[in-house]
Amino acid sequence: SPVAAVIPAAGRGVRLGPGAPKALRSLNGTPMLVHAVRALAASRAVSLVVVVAPSDGAGEVKSMLDAHALPERTDVLVVPGGGTRQESVRLGLEALPPGHDVVLVHDAARPLVPVDTVDAVIEAVRGGAAAVVPALPLADTVKQVEPAGAPGAPEPVVATPDRSRLRAVQTPQGFDRATLVRAHKTVTGDVTDDASMVEQLGERVVAVPGHEEAFKVTRPLDLVLAEAVLARRRL
Ligand code: CTP
Ligand code: MG
Repeated sequence: SPVAAVIPAAGRGVRLGPGAPKALRSLNGTPMLVHAVRALAASRAVSLVVVVAPSDGAGEVKSMLDAHALPERTDVLVVPGGGTRQESVRLGLEALPPGHDVVLVHDAARPLVPVDTVDAVIEAVRGGAAAVVPALPLADTVKQVEPAGAPGAPEPVVATPDRSRLRAVQTPQGFDRATLVRAHKTVTGDVTDDASMVEQLGERVVAVPGHEEAFKVTRPLDLVLAEAVLARRRL
């Protein structure tokens, strides 16, 4: 069955610094969001992309996307987002028409994800997992600390989890649609990804290999890296 993708793009990008909303910032002359939509539309399985725009900018985002070439087979919808990523994803899910049993959720802030990663996630959902996350081993050792009161103050280290069993998780995350909708209806509280909501339902969540180029553009240095990757690809 055809796959739909929801792209939350309603964030401000506070950590990137002053400027336009992050998804609308340019990477080598093309808005980050356009790169992200193209990255998902590159998969032949994806027939619909729902872009969740800043709440006051849906019209602007729609005309921006209309002005850029996308594959013929891909429909694009634009809906206004919410105050948190979780709310933006929920608003995107509510805009999905019937007929897509597999749903991807992909950060606009990961504009360079390779199509092979997208297809591997779809494949694993079709293979029976309720939720699938692309994930990579960590380069750094991770410490659990007792957060200090004041910013910059020394923080006592409490534990060092076994790094070999930890993974850094990316997007697109892939879902059985009904399970993801149920998760967004029933799970409350702060979460930073969609798969964790499905975990809370007790459903089976699996990790497949992610890709270095699926990194999230979060801080100014990430813009430098993204533009260098694009230049290497000659985009
Ligand atoms: N997002 C969203 N709606 C929000 C907040 C975030 O759709 N209310 C989206 C962002 O546009 C981004 C993705 O969720 O594509 C991942 O979030 P993040 O990288 O944190 O982006 P921002 O929230 O924009 O950045 P920051 O946290 O630095 O402000
Ligand atoms: Mg954020």
